Amino acid sequence: MELKIYKDYEQLSANAANEIADLLKQKPGAVICLASGDTPKLTYQLFAEKVINENIDISNCTFIGLDEWVGIPPENEGSCQYFFRKYLFEPLQVTPGQTYLFNALSSSFEEECKKMDETILAKGGIDLMMVGIGMNGHIGFNEPGVSFDLYSHIVNLDETTVTVGQKYFNSQTALQKGITLGLRHFMESKRAIVLANSAKKAGIIKKALEDEISNHVPATIIRTHAQGVVMIDEEAASLLK
Ligand code: PGA
Repeated sequence: MELKIYKDYEQLSANAANEIADLLKQKPGAVICLASGDTPKLTYQLFAEKVINENIDISNCTFIGLDEWVGIPPENEGSCQYFFRKYLFEPLQVTPGQTYLFNALSSSFEEECKKMDETILAKGGIDLMMVGIGMNGHIGFNEPGVSFDLYSHIVNLDETTVTVGQKYFNSQTALQKGITLGLRHFMESKRAIVLANSAKKAGIIKKALEDEISNHVPATIIRTHAQGVVMIDEEAASLLK
């Protein structure tokens, strides 16, 4: 695993955007799993600008959505699907056939998970998985205590996730379950990147990088990924030894 510390959120985001763009230049048919959330917003904006300015062909790549709030419809501005449309798919005119997102309203989440796992397998696996880190150390909705061996699955959301998650919604929203890619996907992805910025992430970044590797802090798993990269700004790095 490699640790990269950047001066600020802008530098971090510019480098994260380059990671996605460089991969697509080398491998236009890449399979990319991206996260929603506050952390990657600027990354996606800068990535979209790069694609347009540098005329990068993204018509052959595949975008996989990391996770979704179960029961939250796609038109709700707090849903991950809404986020992907707003920050990535619409600005980049990504065609629906290139995107694979969990259906939060599915009548069978077991099927939904199976479908996602089969899609990833059929496409030859994930080339790049770029994720954020939750205040409790989660990756996607792989909450503390999760098995490292799972592919897609349904979870009961951790209390921290339910509380912190309110920031994405316009009004108080009942959140109970999530559907998410598993840490096995993360470990099997050819390159895995965790992004974090701001002082509020300093405590959990310290745990992720310095605590014993265990499912108590799911993000500790990045340290066992041979092609893992943790990209953070100086504020998020401020408590590291
Ligand atoms: P954030 O979420 O980017 O909004 O901080 C990260 C996460 O919970 O994984």
